[in-house]
Amino acid sequence: PVSTQGFSLEPSAKPTAESVLASILENPGFGRYFTDHMAHIRWTEADGWHGHQVRPYGPLTLDPAASVLHYAQEIFEGIKAYRHADGSVWTFRPEKNAARFRTSARRLALPELSDEDFLGAIKALVTQDRTWVPTPASEAEESSLYLRPFMIASEAFLGVRPSKEVDFYVIASPVAAYFKGGVKPVSIWLSSNYKRASPGGTGAAKCGGNYAASLLAQKEAAEHGCDQVAFLDAVENTWIEELGGMNLFFVTKDGRLVTPRLTGTILEGVTRDSLLTLAKEEGLTPEERPISIDEWRDGVASGEITEVFACGTAAVITPIGKLVSENGTIEHPEGNQVAARLRKRLLDIQYGRAEDTHGWLTRL
Ligand code: COI
Repeated sequence: PVSTQGFSLEPSAKPTAESVLASILENPGFGRYFTDHMAHIRWTEADGWHGHQVRPYGPLTLDPAASVLHYAQEIFEGIKAYRHADGSVWTFRPEKNAARFRTSARRLALPELSDEDFLGAIKALVTQDRTWVPTPASEAEESSLYLRPFMIASEAFLGVRPSKEVDFYVIASPVAAYFKGGVKPVSIWLSSNYKRASPGGTGAAKCGGNYAASLLAQKEAAEHGCDQVAFLDAVENTWIEELGGMNLFFVTKDGRLVTPRLTGTILEGVTRDSLLTLAKEEGLTPEERPISIDEWRDGVASGEITEVFACGTAAVITPIGKLVSENGTIEHPEGNQVAARLRKRLLDIQYGRAEDTHGWLTRL
């Protein structure tokens, strides 16, 4: 049988025509188009992980009683493949995503996947669908192939207990900027009615349920004309946690780069961690600590906080232009020079335009 990277290969009988692919890559948007194949590994309690395969992208056959559909036993990851100027394709700190995927799996009582299988599936898929990795037209452009590994509980059983059958997939989608306007500043709605996560809950896991819980607040944000929602902690309703799907950073007048410390209710972002490292090289002092909503408001008003930005794999670094809440709107200063500098530094590493001094890149 044909194989790729140790995965058996069933090639698509109807691969996307070259002309169609070219027009998709010209304007991919975010998460709208998917490549011709997907990677799959199956797990059963009896046999463990097996059946490594790359097969045509398409609908899944799932029993209507599959526990993921009822009890949301599911986790996912977000990671990108970048094309360098010489045509080679690389990914960024995949071992961090693999480790987080295992942490998420433990929290959702799902089986853990090894680094080898996690990265193997990504490599096998990107090898097969390499032509789908966009070539950025300029340094300002951030097009890439967004990879979405995910794991679902597929046993047909309505009792509430961890599933004895699980499927792991990787799908891939060529993407440009996450926000429609590109890197222009976004507006944030401060949710006072809803919480994303609470102590002892699943906030630090990357599971679908956290995102489902954010949707109504995100809808409220949109109703107030905002792009994204910010959540406060569930206990004191005081401390900044994160956005619906991104971490937050604050830049102070005296050169500190501050982000909420990890509390178990915040997602441990790979971009977040990378920026804390890059900060020092950019002459900034990284700081992980609690930040209150009052500090955000007062700091922007007094000029103590000079920039606020969101970060994540999907959003890269996106400056925040204003904070809207029931108490009114706080406009943020324009400029966002630190965000722009960090963004350029990160993208230069990811796209191979700067030396990878931290060993963060893996060739696919
Ligand atoms: C990512 O940044 O990769 C995420 O998973 C978050 C979501 C906004 C797509």
